[in-house]
Amino acid sequence: MSKQFDVVVIGGGPGGYIAAIRAAQLGFQVACIDEWKNAEGGPAPGGTCTNVGCIPSKALLQSSEHFDHANHHFADHGISAKDVKMDVAKMLGRKDTVVKQNNDGILYLFKKNKITFFHGRGTFANAIDGGFEVKVTGKAEESIVGKQVIIATGSNARALPGTPFDEVHILSNDGALRMGSVPKKLALIGSGVIGLEMGSVWRRLGAEVTILEGLPTFLGAVDEQIAKEAKKAFDKQGLKIELGVKVGEISNGKKGVSIAYTNAKGEAQTLDADKLIVSIGRVPNTIGLGAEAIGLQLDERGAIVVDGDCKTNVPGVWAVGDVVRGPMLAHKAEEEGVAVAERIAGQHGHVNFNTIPWVIYTSPEIAWVGRTEQQLKADGVAYKAGTFPFLANGRARALGDTTGMVKFLADATTDEILGVHIVGPMASELISEAVVAMEFKASAEDIARICHAHPSLSEATKEAALAVDKRTLNF
Ligand code: FAD
Ligand code: NAI
Repeated sequence: MSKQFDVVVIGGGPGGYIAAIRAAQLGFQVACIDEWKNAEGGPAPGGTCTNVGCIPSKALLQSSEHFDHANHHFADHGISAKDVKMDVAKMLGRKDTVVKQNNDGILYLFKKNKITFFHGRGTFANAIDGGFEVKVTGKAEESIVGKQVIIATGSNARALPGTPFDEVHILSNDGALRMGSVPKKLALIGSGVIGLEMGSVWRRLGAEVTILEGLPTFLGAVDEQIAKEAKKAFDKQGLKIELGVKVGEISNGKKGVSIAYTNAKGEAQTLDADKLIVSIGRVPNTIGLGAEAIGLQLDERGAIVVDGDCKTNVPGVWAVGDVVRGPMLAHKAEEEGVAVAERIAGQHGHVNFNTIPWVIYTSPEIAWVGRTEQQLKADGVAYKAGTFPFLANGRARALGDTTGMVKFLADATTDEILGVHIVGPMASELISEAVVAMEFKASAEDIARICHAHPSLSEATKEAALAVDKRTLNF
């Protein structure tokens, strides 16, 4: 007889493993199936995020930033560091260790929460009375039954039509995170989040980086003023970004890649590079899921169709994370996972899509929550704006990192915070205060009246809130 579970989770990325933990906390018998393999063929739960996404990219961003500081900023502090060298193999080894620590941490959490983990692929076999039969294929093959199933199968990198990833010259995020040496010339297509983060890593290590972007605007989803400030900083660093291009034929030869494209002026160009990273977005992953076996509805992009509560068209089957609509972010996947587990338990799980923070971990970092100035204009909302530059912040000066600003957007009548946008040092950490404030429907005045430690970067947040009422104290 098949093993029976209250909840079967397919996929062990941030959406899946967190849903499994929350369901177990709520007293359910839970199984989680994940097929990711480490180099030795063993289990590597954590999904894209842990294996080829958030965690390894941040490890490389950190290593490359240290290298950049040693080369370019130590001297400002009176530290001389001559002949600074980067051992790429060691850097990649460290990154792999960080990844493994996270994989092992999740396996430990499964044990701690008495979640049965299956290493293999989960495929719907059929709907049966009171649940769903899911076939697990991997080292061991078996069928399990879940009264409820949560799908969290994530996403894969989108390839350019006719240009498959070979992970030698034409790289997805996977290959981008394990180049064995620094390419002399690196091309990227797509100046979104991955393009900027990966472009930054390899530029800091010495590659000549060119990013080709199809849209005429830089970071269109980001507040225009913030995007402009970030672009200025990237230009200064030598990160070459060409906007409004149309990519044509890509030839993949023995020595590298040649990319034909038309620039914004309509002129035909060719870019030769040793490696090409294609970072043009991601596609939801339902490969091998057996969606058809239970009549699961997918949309034209291949995403699983869900309602606001992550319910699919099949009662008892839920889906969360990158495989459904909404931003492809690890913390969004986690929030949905928690909310679904709570809904299964009859509770009122909730995800506030208006307060999901975004962070781009470049230097300067870019982080935001809520609406941008251009969105408020388009929505016809009357607003007040307040900005404060890090140049006027004592801690930023002491750190030697004064690029950027904090920007508040508040309702013109009620003063409620509608959006907070940051470009600058530690924006990823600073944005949390804004998220909390927006969750509690705080006004800009609320933040302006809260005591912030001195000297700290968070004083720039307080000052930007004060700026909404045109009464900054230090600028
Ligand atoms: P995934 O993490 O993709 O996990 C899905 C899991 O399901 C995988 O392990 C997969 O093997 C498994 N699976 C799929 N099908 C089956 C099946 N049939 N049976 C069994 N297992 C299956 N987001 C952030 O918030 N912050 C960041 O800094 C960040 N950095 C990123 C950097 C890069 C380079 C990339 C590519 C992404 C980054 N993201 C980041 C996005 C983030 O990784 C995703 O939003 C997140 O991983 C989505 O979680 P998920 O659980 O939905 O899916
Ligand atoms: P993206 O959506 O962020 O950026 C893709 C870029 O490619 C866009 O600017 C788009 O206009 C451009 N583009 C698309 N097709 C093109 C073409 N044919 N030619 C030229 N340009 C083209 O996608 P990306 O960078 O691949 O990342 C995927 C997702 O992964 C992100 O949207 C994000 O959800 C997640 N991610 C999150 C990170 C974070 O939170 N720090 C880090 C990395 C990824």
